Amino acid sequence: MIHDPNEAGLPSDASELSGDALPESNDTAGIDADATTPENALHLRRIRSFVTRAGRVSTGQRRAMDELGPRFVVPYSPEEPDWDAVFARRAPRILEIGFGMGATPAEIDARRQDDDFLGVEVHEPGVGALLKLMGEQNLSNIRIIQHDAVEVLENMIAPESLDGVHIFFPDPWHKPRHHKRRLIQPKFVALLVSRLKPGAYIHCATDWQNYAEQMLEVLGADPALENTADGYAPRPDYRPVTKFEKRGLRLGHGVWDLIYKRRPVS
Ligand SMILES: C[S@@+](CC[C@H](N)C(=O)[O-])C[C@H]1O[C@@H](n2cnc3c(N)ncnc32)[C@H](O)[C@@H]1O
Repeated sequence: MIHDPNEAGLPSDASELSGDALPESNDTAGIDADATTPENALHLRRIRSFVTRAGRVSTGQRRAMDELGPRFVVPYSPEEPDWDAVFARRAPRILEIGFGMGATPAEIDARRQDDDFLGVEVHEPGVGALLKLMGEQNLSNIRIIQHDAVEVLENMIAPESLDGVHIFFPDPWHKPRHHKRRLIQPKFVALLVSRLKPGAYIHCATDWQNYAEQMLEVLGADPALENTADGYAPRPDYRPVTKFEKRGLRLGHGVWDLIYKRRPVS
């Protein structure tokens, strides 16, 4: 895959990190251990798309978290916040899931000042990195939640409230026995679709062909979605080419974009 976690300071893809060492029974990795209620116990059984890893937060990232966190980080809560109040305006709202070190949402935000962006990422150094970029570039249209996107969607996002969803280079979970951890699965897509306004879009990108094929199959099978292209879509101008992608493209790797729209409700 293109992303080089070591060079990027990215949270490494867990399947690469642990390789075959990730036990097959490790389906609950990264889940809070407080299964004190039946509801929490249910969550414990859910297969996660990430493994929680300790990552070093740099001094600059920590400073950005201290200074800008109170303004731009929204604490996870099992209830839906008043998003218009959180963003201090009503504008088209785009959810970005798994923004890594934040380079992409920062660039997109700078290009799309009329839209608001809600970035969800579990990895703390990524949250610090995005806040640092926001401070450096004086970006104020982004809010961040450091939590599992599945629970954020379930509890904090109202049905038919989003104008778009970005999922760029989600962990590909290379090994077939880990494919169940991939984010783009029918149930997750159904949850996503329920949060989209009619006409709103889902934009996924991946550099892993087998995952691109799975995305095409899963997104294509959801009756509420319609492909905006004949198969894979050309990369729209708003999605910047990351340095990892550039390097991969130089090496001859492929990148696949998929853009689907929610059909109007009949
Ligand atoms: C391979 S990285 C890609 C990062 C970034 N989108 C990019 O293009 O560079 C995938 C990211 O998704 C995050 N992630 C995976 N599952 C997630 C979930 N359920 N909720 C929030 N973040 C998640 C991981 O922590 C990781 O940072």
